[in-house]
Amino acid sequence: MKNVKIAIMGMGTVGGGVYRLIEMEGERIAREQSICLEVKKTLALAYSVEVPESVKAANVQEIAEDPEISIVVELMGGMEPAKTFIKTMLEAGKTVVSANKQLIANAWPELEAAAKKGGAGFYFEASVGGAIPIIRTVNTSLQANTIQSIEAIINGTTNFIMTKMCDEGGDFAEVLKEAQDLGYAEADPTADVDGFDAMYKLSILSSLAFCSRMPIDKIYREGIRNVSKKDIDCIKSMGKEVKLLAIGKKDGNKVQLRVHPTIIPKEHMLATVKGSFNAVFLKCSMADDLMLYGRGAGDLPTASAVVSDVLNAATQEAPAYARFKNVEGEVDPEICFDDNWQTGYYLRVQGGDAAQKAKAALEKRGIQIAQEIALDGDLALIIDQAHEQEIQAAVQEMGGVASLLRMQ
Ligand code: HSE
Repeated sequence: MKNVKIAIMGMGTVGGGVYRLIEMEGERIAREQSICLEVKKTLALAYSVEVPESVKAANVQEIAEDPEISIVVELMGGMEPAKTFIKTMLEAGKTVVSANKQLIANAWPELEAAAKKGGAGFYFEASVGGAIPIIRTVNTSLQANTIQSIEAIINGTTNFIMTKMCDEGGDFAEVLKEAQDLGYAEADPTADVDGFDAMYKLSILSSLAFCSRMPIDKIYREGIRNVSKKDIDCIKSMGKEVKLLAIGKKDGNKVQLRVHPTIIPKEHMLATVKGSFNAVFLKCSMADDLMLYGRGAGDLPTASAVVSDVLNAATQEAPAYARFKNVEGEVDPEICFDDNWQTGYYLRVQGGDAAQKAKAALEKRGIQIAQEIALDGDLALIIDQAHEQEIQAAVQEMGGVASLLRMQ
């Protein structure tokens, strides 16, 4: 039996989940995995679960200087003080397990450098897709493949909102309020509804999948605030629905990365992902299509990924790092980021003269309109294939549109 003493920094929903999981499952884990986990210290300003006073650390140094603690779990979230605390632990030679997607997407090279300096591991399965073991799958189960594309629902809050709007009607503001009342969305919902959370997760996942650093500033990001009931009703009449997708595609050295509301056919596997569930759909060179589905948030689902990272770290002989050059401010010069992707489009314009102007602007650029749908005085124009920049130029010439949505 291996005894592993850990510390948890951040005892909110997920920190409390990790503590409870170890309380509930610790004996079984010890029996089955021969690893006895003990939470020796916690560090938090507020606690979501009861923890004995003797376990509560007074400060970060108390954990960093405790030679018995080999693994530190960071579940504080945000940039600071999480970054400073993690670096302190890594440089002290303690392996860190984190779910902090914002921090990892922004400062992964710096954290990895600190880990290497301390000879420690740095693992973050829970940072993307909550309970879904997507990072381990990409890192250790798909190495025989080139991953050609990622299409993912990796934000539970926006998927809950989009599902409600598509399946039950309701306007964005109403459904957002419901998501907040149910505790899915944050009081300040910006990170979720404006696509930042999905962007951080896509940066991490696409870096691992494409074996090259994919910085957040290379990701096109658009949230779901402008998806209206009027558009949803029209899209449903077409046999389709809308999801906030995180998309990454790699063709040779050309990479496109984008997070935006996307119209998908009802038959698409991602259309079956309802409520706050997440799913990641990969196209792989050898394995072909692959989809992982599960709970992307929540105390025990996220704790499942965190504790699995702890158990894996506890049995590893040597720490594992990114398999690509992971240097701050540097991206592989061979990679060409493509912001002129080709896809389908849905444009809603006002009827009458505005509609004529819109059609002329599209025609001028050789963009074909596949379908026109009249909508209470407006007109929805469906375009099967066009380039993003051509569409943007046409929309500018039109003087803007009521809605612009991309279609798979
Ligand atoms: N706010 C995130 C979501 C939590 O809604 O998916 C999990 O990262």
